[in-house]
Amino acid sequence: MKQILVINGPNLNFLGIREKGIYGDDDYKSVCNYIKDSFQGKDLKIEILQSNSEGKIIDFLQMAYHNQMDGVVINPGAYTHYSYAIHDAIKSISIPTVEVHLSNIHEREDFRKISVTSPACVKQIYGKGKEGYIEAINFLLNDVIGK
Ligand code: DQA
Repeated sequence: MKQILVINGPNLNFLGIREKGIYGDDDYKSVCNYIKDSFQGKDLKIEILQSNSEGKIIDFLQMAYHNQMDGVVINPGAYTHYSYAIHDAIKSISIPTVEVHLSNIHEREDFRKISVTSPACVKQIYGKGKEGYIEAINFLLNDVIGK
């Protein structure tokens, strides 16, 4: 059985509360359920973790290493734009990692156009809302892990 870890960073637990015009009405729990339900019945274990802290996110990534996860999907939230520590953590675990953003970070403020974490990832998906997580997992399963 393949194992995928989904990591969500700061403020994503506030989905459904924060800036609904940008991030939509779905709350965090329903997004997590949507991700899990989308792969129901598949030979796949999906674990989803969230933290508002940089160090915790690095701990999650190192946990993925120790637990020999097959792939990681990460939405580092605002850490995307300045956390070299998360970049280094992604690099250090050598597990294929896809970066996901609900919003189109390339059509928002200038500071969001820069991702310091994506060079450590195999792909960046943005602007597709919760579908981005599904696309990321399918990409890992079909184009990276399966090959
Ligand atoms: C985000 C985009 C980031 O710029 C922002 O700080 C977030 C969410 C997204 O999913 O669109 O917290 O990662």
